[in-house]
Amino acid sequence: MSDEPLILGIETSCDETGVGIVRGHTLLADALASSVEQHARFGGVVPEVASRAHLEAIVPTMDRALKEAGVTLADIDAIAVTSGPGLAGALLVGVAAAKGYALAAEKPVYGVNHLAAHVAVDTLEHGPLPEPAIALLVSGGHSSLLLVDDLARGVTPLGATIDDAAGEAFDKVARLLGLPFPGGPYIDREARAGDPSAIGFPRGLTAPKDLAAHRYDFSFSGLKTAVARWVEARQRAGEPVPVADVAASFQEAVCDVLVRKALDACRSTGVETLVIGGGVAANSRLRAMAEDRAAAHGIRVRVPRPGLCTDNGAMVAALGSHLVASGVAPSRLDLPADSAMPLTTVSV
Ligand code: KG4
Ligand code: ZN
Repeated sequence: MSDEPLILGIETSCDETGVGIVRGHTLLADALASSVEQHARFGGVVPEVASRAHLEAIVPTMDRALKEAGVTLADIDAIAVTSGPGLAGALLVGVAAAKGYALAAEKPVYGVNHLAAHVAVDTLEHGPLPEPAIALLVSGGHSSLLLVDDLARGVTPLGATIDDAAGEAFDKVARLLGLPFPGGPYIDREARAGDPSAIGFPRGLTAPKDLAAHRYDFSFSGLKTAVARWVEARQRAGEPVPVADVAASFQEAVCDVLVRKALDACRSTGVETLVIGGGVAANSRLRAMAEDRAAAHGIRVRVPRPGLCTDNGAMVAALGSHLVASGVAPSRLDLPADSAMPLTTVSV
């Protein structure tokens, strides 16, 4: 058996209770309990409901992960936990659990950044990340472009959304098309039967005048409004809404902007690796478009498989493993749950 450290990761920042176990870059267990169905009827995650669900799920999910990996808590070398950003009450459950297990089993604990974990998870599938790399981080709460010089110690933000996150735009547009929450996967599915060029929706912050101040920033709020106006006009005229065409055209607009800006960042910094992470990285069109367009520029795209793009415990374990391998010191046992943890802080 490898002598690489065995790392357990705990994730509770939103609506997924995740516990993952890795050895080096090898994934041994990825146990997940989701409260998504309890939120669906509200059209968004209800923080109090999520916290309660984490509380109920954390111990069984932990037990399931240990069983799946065929190890005991005593075998674990370090525990990593999402310290932020995320929902305060939800984060607290994971952080408190990590502290309890760490104290009971006398293990070091690492409080880590959820967003850096979305980048680190790719190492479980594609091995060590070449540095520097450009990371496109697209989730329900964040959309950012980062220069990753040293994932263990810090990342440099290049740009971010100035309004809605990419996943948030998917969720809002899905809602106005009458699709369930969370909308991303439903839009992805509908779009397969639609024509991406049916409707020319706007590409936010891509006009020359916007590029001067916002070259690497994103804006999806105008796009969302454009889709709403288009759908309303159809409804007012008493005509049916072609859901598949709207979904495909909207998805095309989002992906076009994300890929264009990410490849621009790669070219202007001379970086040859683009890693895409976060829930929206599960989108089939985004994955295909990024790979097609990057190939023409000699840029290598790394995207983990869809199941690792959305929130899970394995991503936290992967980042913990990278921190341990890089010689980063563990966190103090009084580490915080920090709902507004900045992107530049990889671990606390
Ligand atoms: O990373 P994640 O699981 O949670 C956050 O950290 O926010 O991302 C969730 C987001 C949701 O907005 C969801 O609609 C979106 O990721 N998403 C997708 C797809 N799968 C999940 N968006 C587009 N296409 C998908 N296939
Ligand atoms: Zn996430």
